[in-house]
Amino acid sequence: MLGSHEIRARYLNFFQKENHVIIPSSSLLPENDPTTLFTGSGMQPMVPYLLGESHSLGVRIVDSQKCFRSQDIEEVGDNRHTTFFEMLGNWSLGDYFKTEQISWMFEFLTNPEIGLGLDARRLYFTCFRGNQEIGIPQDTDSAELWQKLLQEKNIDAKIVDWSERDGMQAGRIFYYDEKKNWWSRAGIPGKMPVGEPGGPDTEMFWDFNPECGENHLDGATDIVKFGNVCHVNCDCGRFLEIGNNVFMQYHRTESGFELLPQTNVDFGGGLERLAAAVRNDADVFNIDLFDGMKAVLEQASGQRYADYVPEITKSFRVILDHLRAAAFLIADNAIPSNKDQGYFTRRLIRRSIRYAHMLGIQKNFCAAIAEETIKTYASAYPQLIEQKKLIISELEKEETKFKRTIEHGIKKFNEITKLMPANSAIPTEEIFDLYQSYGFSLEITQELATEKNLVVNETEFRTYLKQHQDQSRAGSEQKFKGGLADHSEMSVKYHTATHLLHAAVLKILGAHAVQKGSNITPERLRFDFAHGDKLTAEQIKAVEDLVNAAIARDYSVTFQIIPVAEAKAKKAIGLFAGKYEEMVKVYTVGDPEGLPDANSTAPTFSREFCGGPHVEHTGIIGHFKIVKEEAVSAGVRRIKAIVE
Ligand code: SER
Repeated sequence: MLGSHEIRARYLNFFQKENHVIIPSSSLLPENDPTTLFTGSGMQPMVPYLLGESHSLGVRIVDSQKCFRSQDIEEVGDNRHTTFFEMLGNWSLGDYFKTEQISWMFEFLTNPEIGLGLDARRLYFTCFRGNQEIGIPQDTDSAELWQKLLQEKNIDAKIVDWSERDGMQAGRIFYYDEKKNWWSRAGIPGKMPVGEPGGPDTEMFWDFNPECGENHLDGATDIVKFGNVCHVNCDCGRFLEIGNNVFMQYHRTESGFELLPQTNVDFGGGLERLAAAVRNDADVFNIDLFDGMKAVLEQASGQRYADYVPEITKSFRVILDHLRAAAFLIADNAIPSNKDQGYFTRRLIRRSIRYAHMLGIQKNFCAAIAEETIKTYASAYPQLIEQKKLIISELEKEETKFKRTIEHGIKKFNEITKLMPANSAIPTEEIFDLYQSYGFSLEITQELATEKNLVVNETEFRTYLKQHQDQSRAGSEQKFKGGLADHSEMSVKYHTATHLLHAAVLKILGAHAVQKGSNITPERLRFDFAHGDKLTAEQIKAVEDLVNAAIARDYSVTFQIIPVAEAKAKKAIGLFAGKYEEMVKVYTVGDPEGLPDANSTAPTFSREFCGGPHVEHTGIIGHFKIVKEEAVSAGVRRIKAIVE
């Protein structure tokens, strides 16, 4: 059977033979992209070239890109989610299009000599249904191309417009809407900021359980007859998406969608998922890349993964995924810390330690797992060997530090429970203290309680936790109330104008131009910011114009109360020195779901730590005018502005 390294190599070779240049994976930490913390897809580093910039290596590129999706941390535990994965990718930068891509993919998936040798009877495909409202037609080309290739193999390939009511209808190729068959970094067409590229896609699926026919799988083991409900995009686990061909040919404009100057192909397929399909085992954690790490974990815990005891399986998956990700992140210099990317490395390691605790692992184990990760990936990612010392020492350090906290917690637990008779309930406020001050998850406390025949009232704990969160929310509302001289209507307008101005100087002058001070009265705003030189007349005009454009766009102004870590991940600007768990208030001008970026016309214009209050819509602010620009001290400039 083909191993994962061989699958990667075959893929790269296959496309190299079709005149693609193999490029190495970019870092997990994007280099020139302030909009995101991590590289989460293969195409991310390719965006400039998809938009038309010329690539020095030509118009056909192929690679295997390391990816990390922090938003999936909590999802890990089922048979297919991982935070780290490798995405095999090939690109046509204005060169070939659908015909070549689809026939190459089919060949790669099914050819046993140079590809994966997958049984074509177990492959399914989806295409874009089209959307008249935005003027994008149905992708009949792709559907017919797949159909022809399947028919050449004597496979009945019915094309079906999928609907919940009618189900699969014995189809093989299905049309779905933009929620499933449209790809852009921002998601569906309606969410794309102006300038963002995207397009219809056609996805490929593997059927792990053809014996189900059109029935539905429950828990990937028992077949349940649910009539029409199961379909290729169902998440019961029967079908797995193994690759996505995006026909990146549009970009969003102010008024809708326009064709890009070139038609591109952006293919991405998860290596782990392709390997699972080749093994015909829906559990991605059974692929060979995890063998070494799994063996170490089995040894350390005395448990066998293959026994599939639910909580044990979940702990294994979390640890395997998280420590592999942590090793790769450290190799790319995301050192465990309390901020930015390092915060996620820390979170991954700490979660692994907690889950290891549940497996009964006492000794330090992170370094041993990392050794295996490095060994497994040494030839594909030699950088791991170069960074081995750093990876091992950072893991050791973090593990020792976090275990000390846990040990203190255990001591505390023993003190609390020393005199408690068997079967009594531990006071919820104590459980909460363990959670809050010692980093104990409820599971850890529960486990210690079980050992001592004590009871944990889970419902009460959750209620307590919620009350506490509500309180700290109210607390941060209070804490952030200040900041303005008064809350008159004019001051509130000036306050929002200050956020627009802050965002505007950052966009026009650069990321260094952060706020250094602010003072607002009902007559004017005063805003100090870091910048060395006097602003030119053009720069003043550009800043003014941008603020006025933001006013004219009548953005909504909304706030959220979220943990500091989340606010930072969402690119909130402004000083905030609190703990990462602390709840803070952030104000967003524009789309609260999007990320602000340097682009002047992004749907999310600004996001800032702030107590408020603000206007609800920027449109009511009036006309913004800079009346003075001067120096305050070395490297700090001051703007005074009014609205009329
Ligand atoms: N950009 C697409 C994805 O990430 C294909 O590479 O799925």
